[in-house]
Formats: sequence, C-alpha cells, structure tokens
Amino acid sequence: MNVVIRANEDEVALYAYDLVRDRIIHEQAKVLGLPTGSTPLKLYARIAEGFKRGEIDFSDVHTFNLDEYLGLPEDHPQSYRYFMEENLFQFINLKSENIHFLDGMTDDIGAECEDYEAQMDELGGIKLQILGIGRDGHIGFNEPGTSLNSRTGYVTLTEGTIADNKRFFAEDEDVPRWALSMGVGTILDARELLLLATGANKADAIAATLEGPVTSMCTASALQLHPDVTVVIDEAAASKLKNTSYYKKTADDSEAMAKYLANARRKAGLE
Ligand code: PGA
Repeated sequence: MNVVIRANEDEVALYAYDLVRDRIIHEQAKVLGLPTGSTPLKLYARIAEGFKRGEIDFSDVHTFNLDEYLGLPEDHPQSYRYFMEENLFQFINLKSENIHFLDGMTDDIGAECEDYEAQMDELGGIKLQILGIGRDGHIGFNEPGTSLNSRTGYVTLTEGTIADNKRFFAEDEDVPRWALSMGVGTILDARELLLLATGANKADAIAATLEGPVTSMCTASALQLHPDVTVVIDEAAASKLKNTSYYKKTADDSEAMAKYLANARRKAGLE
C-alpha cells in the first residue's frame, strides 16, 4: 500500500485531486467509484474548481456511488443521490445517463443489486474507487462483521450508525435502518483504490486498517489484500500508526530508486 501522510485536510484533498485528475486524463479512470460523507467534500470542491478552470473533463466518465439508504427517494435531502447532486454532480459535465446509483426505493432489492454489478461489468469494472472510512473501519456501508467477500446487497445498519443519523431526521421512525451498499468484494474488484481519512477520530480505524489483522471486524482492513491502494491521510488520522517512518520513506521514492538502479547498471557495465 502506498501510504501518503499530509499535514491537513486541504493537503489531503489536493493530493487526491491530482491523483483523480491524472487517472481521468490518462484514460484509466473513465469509470469512477465515489463515496459520500464529510471526508470527500474538499476533494469534490477541488474537482468542481478544476472543472471550472478546464483541467478536468467528465463528458465520457461514468460514476458508481458506493451506497444509498433504503427507503429514501433520490430527491430526499438525506439521500446520498441528493448529496452527490448538491456537492459534485451539479458542478461538472457528467452526463446524467452516466451516473449510476443504487435505488433506495426499489421493490426488488436482489434484482437492483445484481443489476448494479452488471452495469459495472458492462463498463469493464471500476477503474478508480474512492473511499472514506467509518470510525469503526467500515467502507461503503459494510459494517463490522460483514463478509470480506460480500457483493452489492442490503446491509443492516448498526445501532451506532442509526443513532449518529438521528440528528438529520425530524422523526426517529424516519431514520433508515438499512442501506444498499457495494460489498467489500465488489470494492476490491476495482482496479485501483484511493482511501481518504482526516481527523483524530479516524486514527484508530486507520491504524486497524493498515497495521491490524485482516478481519471482518474492520472491513477496510481487506484493502491489505488489494494490489493497488493509495491511502491519503492527514497527520491527525495518522497519529496512531507505528510504521510511519517507513511510509514516509517509501512514499514517492520511485524516482530515487530508478536513479539508484541506473547507476548500479552503469557501474556493472550494463548500460
Ligand atoms: P465521513 O464518513 O466521511 O462523514 O467521516 C465516512 C464513512 O462513514 O464512511
């Protein structure tokens, strides 16, 4: 895993923006996986600004969002579809038919989730999946205890998640108890993963994800099994890591390595 530690949230968003833009420009990431939550907000703001400056073009990009609440229509202000419109989609030139979203009002959950995966397959799979992380180490809505091979399906929200969400709803009975989410296995199928985390309240989850065992009790720990992961975090989220000096040493050292090798080959008469 490529672990990048930056001073603060702004620097995390800048690094993430440069990576997303690079992948879109170089044609690898015409199919993007997107998260909701507070973590990606600064990245989305940068993307909106970058689009305005003409640096990034979404005209042939497809997006798949990670998850959606069950029982909320897309125009509900707490739905994730609404969140994406408010914070990103309205600012860029993504075609509406290229926006893929799980329908929280479906009357056939099985078919809805199967169809979502089929849409990804038809487009050759997600090239770059961006992820946030929950305080309990969840990715998507894959709460602790979810199979690390899970596919897109419905998930039962934990009491903690439901309690956290109460503040957004007028009536307790309106708070969603279930959600639809890409599975952990679905997420691992993406060609490249970009996990973002900021703030001290994510420090335990990040330590468990990067340095703990691979376990369904921290679904983000499954990222250890993926061959192409970049984790971009701020100093606060990195504060409980033990291996920090090694991450700093290895981050972006490919140029130094190439020079070293070229020199060694020259000395050995190979160049
Ligand atoms: P946050 O949520 O970005 O709002 O912290 C992340 C998550 O729970 O996945």
